[in-house]
Amino acid sequence: MIGRLNHVAIAVPDLEAAVKTYRDVLGAKVCEPQDEPDHGVTVVFVELDNTKIELLYPLGENSPIAGFLEKNKSGGIHHICYEVEDIFAARDKMLSEGARILGSGEPKLGAHKKPVLFLHPKDFNGTLVELEQV
Ligand code: CO
Repeated sequence: MIGRLNHVAIAVPDLEAAVKTYRDVLGAKVCEPQDEPDHGVTVVFVELDNTKIELLYPLGENSPIAGFLEKNKSGGIHHICYEVEDIFAARDKMLSEGARILGSGEPKLGAHKKPVLFLHPKDFNGTLVELEQV
């Protein structure tokens, strides 16, 4: 059911330093920072040939990644995102398999303005999984 790896999201404690690392040290194509107030993050997309890396930095109070950065002071992989063709079919399949969907279970628009869902890390080997309809 899942298709391509859409992105790997990395929470970072210092966005400017992370941009420098990806742009200058690793020589990647790095986009301008983008504020996502609905998601409580500022995102920088790193474009690779076969996927994207999203550098996530907390935006505003109550950012959903604040707690993660509290526990992981130097940052870390926050989630991975797989593409699906039909987000509702994917959700129903997940629920029928006993996997837990985070939040209300209704898809929300993600950073790419496409519907997304998050799956409980305890059901996926300790990895927060995002499904994005493409
Ligand atoms: Co994501």
